[in-house]
Amino acid sequence: MKDSTICIHEGSYPDANEGGLNTPLYLSTAHLFPHPSNEIRYPRYSNTFTQRAPAEKIAALEHGEKGLVFSSGMAAITTVFLSLLEAGDHCVVQSDIYGGTRRFVAQDLARYGISVGVPESNDPAAVEREITSRTKLLYFETPSNPLLRLVDIEKIARIAGDHGLVSVIDNTFATPINQKPLDMGVDITVHSGTKYLGGHSDIACGAVVSSERLMERIADMQKSLGGSLDCFSCFLLDRGLKTLPLRVQMQNKNALTVARALERSDRVREVHYPGLESHPDHDLARRQMKGFGGIVAFTLEGTLSEARRFTEHLSVIKGAISLGGVESILCYPFETSHAQLGPKEREAMGITETTLRLSVGIEDPEDIVADIEGAFAASS
Ligand SMILES: Cc1ncc(COP(=O)(O)O)c(C=O)c1O
Repeated sequence: MKDSTICIHEGSYPDANEGGLNTPLYLSTAHLFPHPSNEIRYPRYSNTFTQRAPAEKIAALEHGEKGLVFSSGMAAITTVFLSLLEAGDHCVVQSDIYGGTRRFVAQDLARYGISVGVPESNDPAAVEREITSRTKLLYFETPSNPLLRLVDIEKIARIAGDHGLVSVIDNTFATPINQKPLDMGVDITVHSGTKYLGGHSDIACGAVVSSERLMERIADMQKSLGGSLDCFSCFLLDRGLKTLPLRVQMQNKNALTVARALERSDRVREVHYPGLESHPDHDLARRQMKGFGGIVAFTLEGTLSEARRFTEHLSVIKGAISLGGVESILCYPFETSHAQLGPKEREAMGITETTLRLSVGIEDPEDIVADIEGAFAASS
């Protein structure tokens, strides 16, 4: 089945009692024992139908064998690391990844005796140089946050395969509609489903997709750590997934329109969007992505206070943290996702005080562009 059909019909457990088409909210924590399925049913084990429905949709979208949903993106990511690594192991982790993942990798893994190598760039040769005889896992994220730089997925997956490592990719920004890493040789995808998969800025959740073999270990660790997803959030995630392809296609289109409009403005020093010919990874984006995503980053000319005057005049676009919802929202990475870094480190990454990250929603593109142009005019 194609993505749009998967989103409607995969992971569907219609209500047998009433004939309703939707998977019901199965709220029981206590289930008959022995259960007719011969399984012990319990929500922390992620095996109720309400939990399985969205997990199966996401697995089918990612072209993977097994999916599992989690209580947050970080629950998904930390569970993957802790299920596949043990004391004495080493992993290689890209430097420009989501701040929460970076904090976990830099601060917490060492306490469990797991060491980390961070390549100086995302160039495959630099990644390969970090691999040691103890390396077990290679973790990366593409497009990256906030400047949308890309990693060559096929090359990284090949390096991991050559060295017998498990490769893991955070596919949150791209979504499985725009990018299917498992088809390119990656072993595991992780998601903050709080973003595009849920899509309405009303649930926190995460997801993992992998082979059955790897999922046995991940699911086992989820049982221990307890990061399973509650029933109401599963229902909303499943409902949100039904419109994922429609939303993402609209966001791809809107983001390109907004990126082109920003590129034309003399108030903007730099626009970062993989769909623009000016983006350093545009050719790679065309090879490995079906759409370029809904996130646009841009750096304004002038000072922080001038940037703040611009954002104060926006009305359709809201200043808010998070991304991937139906509404357009904007944030300053230097005081949110990248606040823990020092100014020098941020500058080395290309993030300044006037760099803004816009998550483009599904409003009419003319209204989004008019909002930006109006705010430029009002604040000049
Ligand atoms: C790329 C990426 N991965 C993971 C996460 C963590 O997800 P959550 O906030 O759902 O735990 C985020 C959150 O912003 C993110 O942007």
